[in-house]
Amino acid sequence: MPALADQVVLVTGASSGIGEATARRLGRRGARIVLFARRADRIEALAHELDPTGVRTVAVAGNLTNAIDRQRLVAAALEKFGRIDALVNNAGYGTRGAVETVPVELIRRNFETNVFSLIALTQLVVPQMRAQGAGRIVNIGSVAGRIARPMSSVYDSTKHALEAITDGLRGELRPFGIGVVLIRPGLILTEFVQSADRASQTVVETAGPYAPYFAGYHRGYDRLRPYAGTADDIACLVEKALTASRPKAHYAGPIHAKLFLLLKWLLPARVIDHFVRLRR
Ligand SMILES: NC(=O)c1ccc[n+]([C@@H]2O[C@H](COP(=O)([O-])OP(=O)(O)OC[C@H]3O[C@@H](n4cnc5c(N)ncnc54)[C@H](OP(=O)(O)O)[C@@H]3O)[C@@H](O)[C@H]2O)c1
Repeated sequence: MPALADQVVLVTGASSGIGEATARRLGRRGARIVLFARRADRIEALAHELDPTGVRTVAVAGNLTNAIDRQRLVAAALEKFGRIDALVNNAGYGTRGAVETVPVELIRRNFETNVFSLIALTQLVVPQMRAQGAGRIVNIGSVAGRIARPMSSVYDSTKHALEAITDGLRGELRPFGIGVVLIRPGLILTEFVQSADRASQTVVETAGPYAPYFAGYHRGYDRLRPYAGTADDIACLVEKALTASRPKAHYAGPIHAKLFLLLKWLLPARVIDHFVRLRR
């Protein structure tokens, strides 16, 4: 894929965090951006900030899990710009809690957003990219797609699934000139923690014997916080993935994410289990 100028890039989850930073970074590099998220006020304000004339950006408010909203998104992009050069599948959230206690309905809901709806949107975009003979898809995975932790394995399993989908898709789309990349962020300071708190509220309230371990889980986050990256660190990786003539299959950042992935590769499961064990 050539320089970003004039490329049409569709970014899901553009109302905060990594998606917002990605839209901002790519928009400033001259890309034409289609912003998607549920919070209309936020994406409209960002679209206006990036281009007050409204010629180079469009905000489409909708829920990724809604089939009609996904269709509206792709239709709006094509109506406005006539093509889609890149799709950044970023929208997602986390669910916490011990597997025993998380209602299956909440697990389904997390997969619905992070995996099934992402796939469904990708299915709508790929025919357009194939017709163009080029395109790039960047999926925002996580270090949690390689390392599952107690009290987090619902979310972690959605990101594990995304790893497999992304790797398979990369091989399927290569003959058509479409590149597929997975980005694995570590801890990034965004609204992710607050959104996971909201999604997991009922699980935390009914955690029973696991209740004491939530404190340890949160302390783990706090310990890592000094090493956390910014949303723009990941936006920078998205830019790399979109502009490299031969992008890598996977990118990771910031540095602690690379270190965790290296340790996961090097160390036996028993040692990893010890690092991520439940703590009160
Ligand atoms: N922050 C981290 O430490 C971290 C680490 C690894 C991976 N990630 C991944 O990075 C991605 C972005 O997360 P973030 O950290 O930037 O968190 P965030 O600040 O909470 O942003 C999440 C974005 O996803 C959107 N979203 C969620 N559900 C949606 C739905 N059903 N329909 C449409 N949009 C939806 C939200 O917009 P609305 O609420 O307005 O719809 C928001 O724009 C996620 O896939 C996350 O799993 C984050």
